[in-house]
Amino acid sequence: MEKGDFVVETVDLNKEFHLGDIIVPALRGINFQVKKGEFVVIMGPSGSGKSTLLNMIGGLDNPTAGKVYINGQDISQMSDAALTDLRAREIGFVFQFYNLVPVLTALENVELPLMVTGVPDKESRKRATELLGLVGLGDRLHHRPDELSGGQRQRVSIARAIANDPAIVLADEPTGDVDTKTGDEILDLMHDLNRNLGTTLIVITHDPAVAEHCDRLVRIVDGQIATDRATARKLLEISDEERQVFEELTGIK
Ligand SMILES: Nc1ncnc2c1ncn2[C@@H]1O[C@H](COP(=O)(O)OP(=O)(O)OP(=O)(O)O)[C@@H](O)[C@H]1O
Ligand SMILES: [Mg+2]
Repeated sequence: MEKGDFVVETVDLNKEFHLGDIIVPALRGINFQVKKGEFVVIMGPSGSGKSTLLNMIGGLDNPTAGKVYINGQDISQMSDAALTDLRAREIGFVFQFYNLVPVLTALENVELPLMVTGVPDKESRKRATELLGLVGLGDRLHHRPDELSGGQRQRVSIARAIANDPAIVLADEPTGDVDTKTGDEILDLMHDLNRNLGTTLIVITHDPAVAEHCDRLVRIVDGQIATDRATARKLLEISDEERQVFEELTGIK
C-alpha cells in the first residue's frame, strides 16, 4: 500500500522526555495507520503515552525518532509555516478542557479557524452557523463559553474542529470533564459525524462504553501498542463469511 492511502501513518515512533538525568521513554516504537473514514479509539493506563502519541500525530510535539505521515506527507520534513498550515487545514483538535477563547461567542470561536485559512467573513459566518446547528447549538450562537454548559462547550469545540473539513479530528479525553450522560451524548455526536460526514477520528478515552461507537480499539501500554482490533460495531457490519475469515485470521471472536 502507498503511504498516500492512509490519513495517518506512524513509523517506529519513539519519544523520550528528558528530566535532568532521567529519561522517560513515553513512546517505544509505535507503528500505526489510520484510513480515511475510520473511527479509532485509543485506551490505556494513565501515563502509557496516549496524549504523547496524539500530540505527535497533530504535529504539536516532535518525535525523538521515527516518522509521522499525514496524507502521505512526512511532517518532520515540513517547514514551520507548512506545518502550521497543515494543522489549520487538515487537523481538528478537541481537548478535555475545550480550549475555547473565553471572550468570543460560540459563533466567533467556530469562525476563527475559518478566518485563519482565509475563508471570507460572510462565508465563515454562514458555515459556522450551519456547524453549530449541526451539533445542536443553533440557539446558542451568541453565548460565550462561560454561558454554556460543559457538554455545550464541547459541542462548540467539535464544531470548531470540523470547521475546515480536516482530514482528521484528534480528541484527547473529550468527555473527561462532563458527566456520564453528557459524555455519551458527545460520543454519539462524534459517531454521527463519522457516519454522516465521513469524518476520520482518533479519540482517547477512559470510557469503556466507547467501544460501541468506534470501528477500532487500540490499547497502549508502556508506550507500545498492546492490542489493535476491530470492535463489535465493525463486526456487525460485515457478512458472516467475512466474519469467519476475520475470526480465523485474528483469533478474535
Ligand atoms: N512534558 C513532559 N516531560 C516529561 N515527561 C513527560 C512529559 N509529558 C509526558 N511525560 C511522561 O510521558 C509518559 C506518557 O505521558 P502521556 O501524557 O502521554 O500519558 P497518557 O497515556 O496520556 O496518560 P493519562 O491517561 O493520564 O492522560 C508519562 O510517563 C509522563 O509522565
Ligand atoms: Mg493523556
